[in-house]
Amino acid sequence: MTDTDRLLTKYSKIANSLIGRIESGEFPPGSKLPSLRKICLFEECNLSTAVEAFGILQERGFINGRERSGYFVLPRPELYPKYKLEKPVRVPNPSVPEEVSSLMSELADPGFIPFGAAVPDPQFLPYSSLQKSYKKSLKDSQVYKYSDAAGILELRKKIAIRSSGKERRIRPEEVFITLGCSEAAFLALSLSTKPGDKVAVESPLHFVLYQILSELKLKAIEIPTDPLTGLDLKSYISVIKKESPKFLITIPTFSNPTGSLMPLESKKELLKISSKYGVKILEDDIYGDLQHNGNIRPPSLLSLDTEGIITQVSSLSKSVNPGLRIGWMISERSKVENARRLRLAEAISLPAVPQLASSYFIGSLAHERHLREFRRRLGGLVLAYADSFLEYFPKGTKVAIPKGGFLLWIELPKGKDSRVLRFQAAKKKISLVPGNLFSLSGKYVNNFRINAGVLMGPKVISAIQTLGKIAKEI
Ligand SMILES: Cc1ncc(COP(=O)(O)O)c(C=O)c1O
Repeated sequence: MTDTDRLLTKYSKIANSLIGRIESGEFPPGSKLPSLRKICLFEECNLSTAVEAFGILQERGFINGRERSGYFVLPRPELYPKYKLEKPVRVPNPSVPEEVSSLMSELADPGFIPFGAAVPDPQFLPYSSLQKSYKKSLKDSQVYKYSDAAGILELRKKIAIRSSGKERRIRPEEVFITLGCSEAAFLALSLSTKPGDKVAVESPLHFVLYQILSELKLKAIEIPTDPLTGLDLKSYISVIKKESPKFLITIPTFSNPTGSLMPLESKKELLKISSKYGVKILEDDIYGDLQHNGNIRPPSLLSLDTEGIITQVSSLSKSVNPGLRIGWMISERSKVENARRLRLAEAISLPAVPQLASSYFIGSLAHERHLREFRRRLGGLVLAYADSFLEYFPKGTKVAIPKGGFLLWIELPKGKDSRVLRFQAAKKKISLVPGNLFSLSGKYVNNFRINAGVLMGPKVISAIQTLGKIAKEI
């Protein structure tokens, strides 16, 4: 049986779900897995399927079998050894390389294997329930009017509820509806900065945010991050002391590109430091709902913020549908009022249909069901991708395995250039994003980002093998 067949079978699904449970700590190293018979019972499969699933776990080094005793979880070697943190870098005139526009045209070409995109496979989208929400919205009289410039109130209420936490209750008046997360980030920064202001940014960071810095003529200081735990707080403090930035831009919950998750204690510490030195934070939370394990998302910075430090931007693009173009900014009321004035001047209001459809969908049973299934499948998929890259890529390749989202940050062995990989891959109609696009100072040339949200099948496996072959040759 080939690798491809394996990834598509029932036993590989069972194996992936068990891996997720091991990774989440439900079965710590040394613990015993449920017996084969129990697995048959829970998963409604026959014994040979359960044996195959355990075989995969053994092959991948997650468990070993002890005669007459059962199967035990092995200690897992760190797949991505601690990163060597670089020094913060000052970038006076941020500009985004020309490569971004050619990359965008590759991403729009349906003939490409879309490893370069940061959108989940369309098969994950909740089509039929969204259609129902659309139909319902067309019967609503609000569709035939201009809506409130800050967004339809029902939608703002739903978002306020979902974004609240124990420490912080968000009110609908603090929510402003936007055209995706990109517009929200653009508005948030343009309303609080002027050209020449200094902004600290975590690095690597998604290039959409760099484009905004460049348009607004802001100065940037790149702060290093760990691909597993995010922003380096020591560097943050040293940058604050030396450069006095006005803002910090961060994606603390499943970042783009690394998928890193800042631990809760670090998030609290970050808020303390920012409060002490008076630095405001732009939190991009677009992947926040996509944890692989459990149904409770990691707390956002906003939900922990009791002092009004955080402006949060997010959207439905990664968790529901990028085509809706429904995003939001959550910030203090005065900023929402300023945004409202801008909206009135530029467009009066956003179209009502996608806003109403989103408000019917958000928080519904169908939404919760979709998220539960989507997260569970993403967890397995991301691990399957990580394994395939480690198998087909040259020795010394490292993969940072995220706890949420669907992006994989991969490091090639020293001396290999991901720009060359990208160029050769494009000739074979495979897209990927080279690491240098996630830095303003030309870093990460031996890293690249992969969309592990594309469903696995023979074509995808063959594309990974092709990439691996190119990576060995360059
Ligand atoms: C971190 C991050 N922020 C913002 C965006 C843009 O989101 P939207 O499509 O909602 O404008 C993306 C999309 O890739 C993203 O990954």
